[in-house]
Amino acid sequence: NDLYAVVGNPISHSKSPRIHSLFARQTGQPVEYTAIQAPLDDFAGTVRSFFARGGKGLNVTVPFKEQAWTLADQRTPEAEKAGAANTLLLDSDGLLTADNTDGRGLVTDLVHNHSVDLRDKSILVLGAGGAVRGVLGPLLAERPAALTIANRTVSRAEALVKLFRPDAGATTLSACGFEDVADRFDIIINGTSASLQGDLPPISPNVIGTDTVVYDMMYSLTTTTFNQWALDQGATRVLDGLGMLVEQAAESFRIWRGVRPDTAAVMEELRND
Ligand code: ATR
Repeated sequence: NDLYAVVGNPISHSKSPRIHSLFARQTGQPVEYTAIQAPLDDFAGTVRSFFARGGKGLNVTVPFKEQAWTLADQRTPEAEKAGAANTLLLDSDGLLTADNTDGRGLVTDLVHNHSVDLRDKSILVLGAGGAVRGVLGPLLAERPAALTIANRTVSRAEALVKLFRPDAGATTLSACGFEDVADRFDIIINGTSASLQGDLPPISPNVIGTDTVVYDMMYSLTTTTFNQWALDQGATRVLDGLGMLVEQAAESFRIWRGVRPDTAAVMEELRND
């Protein structure tokens, strides 16, 4: 079997080994996929020894995505812009290539799995950290009418607007603080890590209309804090990050193996785990 793994710290809760073994079983690909906890001070050494052992490809998760980007010999345009990488592969020349499939995962989940068209829509993105930077390119490629980035630290949202302005085309791209958003949006994406502390970004309930689609990039077995808040404000369509997780994994699998798994079947299995 060809060897793949996800590297992070901590890593024991990662769903990637489960997802990729379901992909392997479904597609009949000879893939073995494990989880590796890298020491916080030796991500590079962990990656080098994995490939020295004959490993074919890696997924990278918190807190190493930026280091993976730095470590790579070359980057796809998407990874370049994202400033972080979640997928590494060794090409035939032995060069380490970095990609970032998170944004494509999110967009595929919204557009294909949930039939949420982004073209000409108004999108509110909450947060301006690494997770948000990783998805802005693919979101803008769908050509929404407007994309507003709201963040606790406004300067970080402004920096992202500056960075992605060249990719915005006709989309109105803007930055603001949480207290500045007051209008209804078609789509609201929570990319803050606030829920990890059980916190909510303090935004006006006016952003939510009955047909607003709310997407929390986080995934949990129960309704996320953010999605529960949205439901309480009258939202009728709330989605969590499980689909994004499975779709980014499917993209990595495709990059490595040239085969794209059927994600719907895998999501169904995961929901039942
Ligand atoms: P990640 O890789 O998850 O994006 P990050 O780069 O540390 O991690 O970014 C975390 C994001 O969540 C930021 O937008 C952060 O806001 P700041 O830029 O102001 O720090 C946001 N965030 C974290 N905790 C939050 C909280 N309790 N309330 C609101 N926003 C929060």
